Amino acid sequence: MKDIIREGHPTLTKRSENVSVPLDDKTKKTLKAMRQFLIDSQTPELAEKYALRPGVGLAAPQIDVPLRMLAIYTEDELFETLHDYLMVNPRLVAHTEALTYMPGGEGCLSIDREVEGLVPRYKQVTVRTKLFDPKTETLSEDVTLKLKGFVSIVFQHELDHLNGILFPSRVKPMLEGVEPVRFKPIESNEEENEKQ
Ligand code: NI
Repeated sequence: MKDIIREGHPTLTKRSENVSVPLDDKTKKTLKAMRQFLIDSQTPELAEKYALRPGVGLAAPQIDVPLRMLAIYTEDELFETLHDYLMVNPRLVAHTEALTYMPGGEGCLSIDREVEGLVPRYKQVTVRTKLFDPKTETLSEDVTLKLKGFVSIVFQHELDHLNGILFPSRVKPMLEGVEPVRFKPIESNEEENEKQ
C-alpha cells in the first residue's frame, strides 16, 4: 500500500500518456506487479501481513506511473467468470445509454475517506485495447472487449484514473430509475470487496 499514491497527489489529477509499443522491460515489470498486487490484496493472509486493502482494479497513475495502462482482477457479480486483464492504451469506443451503479457506492485505493453517494456508470461498454499476457510477456494487437455490470464499472473507474478523474467528482446523492448491479448472494464472500 505504500506504493499507492493518495488523493491530493498531482499525478492523480493528470491525464496519463499513451504507453509506447513495443513495451520495454520496466513497463512489463510494472504491469506484472500491478496484477500481482491485486491478487495479493485478495489473499487474506497476504493482505493481513502487508496491510493491503482488497482491490479489484488498479491504474498505473495510482502507483505514480502516468501511463495509460490498468489491471483488473475480479470475478463478475455472479461469481462465474474471472476477469483478468492487463490493458495497455485502452479506449472506450461504445456504451449503452442505460446506466448502472454500485449499490454501496464506490471505493478507491487512493482515497482513504468514506465517500457518500452513488456513481452512475454505463451498464455495458465496448473497449478497444491491447492486452498484456503476464505469463508469456507478450502484448496482443488491439482487441475488442464487451464488459457489462460490475466489471464494466471497474473498467470505467480505472479508465477515469487514466484521465485524472477520481470517483468523488462523479458522485450523485441518488439515481432515480437506474438499476444497481445485483451481486449473487454468497455467504463468506469477504474477498469480493468493492475497493478499486
Ligand atoms: Ni480508484
